[in-house]
Amino acid sequence: MTTQSADSKKTALDAIAVQVNACTACGLHKNRTRGVPGAGPADSEILFIGEGPGFHEDQKGLPFVGQSGKLLEQLLAKIGMNRDQVFIANVVKCRPPENRDPMPDEIATCTSAYLFKQIEILSPKVIVTLGRFSMGLFFPNAKISAIHGKVKWENNRAYLPLYHPAAVLRNMGLMGDMEADFRKIPELIKEHAQRNKPPADDPGSKSGGATGGDENTPKEEPPQQLSLF
Ligand code: URA
Repeated sequence: MTTQSADSKKTALDAIAVQVNACTACGLHKNRTRGVPGAGPADSEILFIGEGPGFHEDQKGLPFVGQSGKLLEQLLAKIGMNRDQVFIANVVKCRPPENRDPMPDEIATCTSAYLFKQIEILSPKVIVTLGRFSMGLFFPNAKISAIHGKVKWENNRAYLPLYHPAAVLRNMGLMGDMEADFRKIPELIKEHAQRNKPPADDPGSKSGGATGGDENTPKEEPPQQLSLF
């Protein structure tokens, strides 16, 4: 998947979007106005994963277009980026009624049908989780207050757990931490390049940079079960 062209990635992501909008795999589809598959460039190096669509997202079919989205855009601007440079998705693709928490069976069904496939297609260098549900997919049993901003490298990819923007809006005391955590994102892209650089004394030995099992890549833990449930 990592060698897929941007065009073929886009085709595969578009096919998932079509499936999301026809999905009846869990009860969340019953109240859906629009499914919210995710949005962003197919060749994005960074994937943000939120929790699930809210009212505005359900109306528009796009992720993070309400107040949380505004904050996300402001935070991106502070690191010199904008939302058109990143892919933004959610754990569940349909709005939970009254914005309740997504349930374990909804998360399991939706992630295995869509989110994990999106990750495979995008093959991002950095996955930024927003909030505890998205964090829970990659950091089982962790507490967000304890691990926000602490990076995990696995299979040549950085996982950065962050607070959910809505949590920051509810408690502005978290803003300083959130901004500091956000500043790690460009550093991780640089670190990824560093980790994948061919050795200086062996120029030209690798053409396209290293991937997961390369000897230049620091030893990492084996991939773990992605789902918590
Ligand atoms: N909150 C989320 O987790 N996702 C969205 O798309 C919007 C708000």
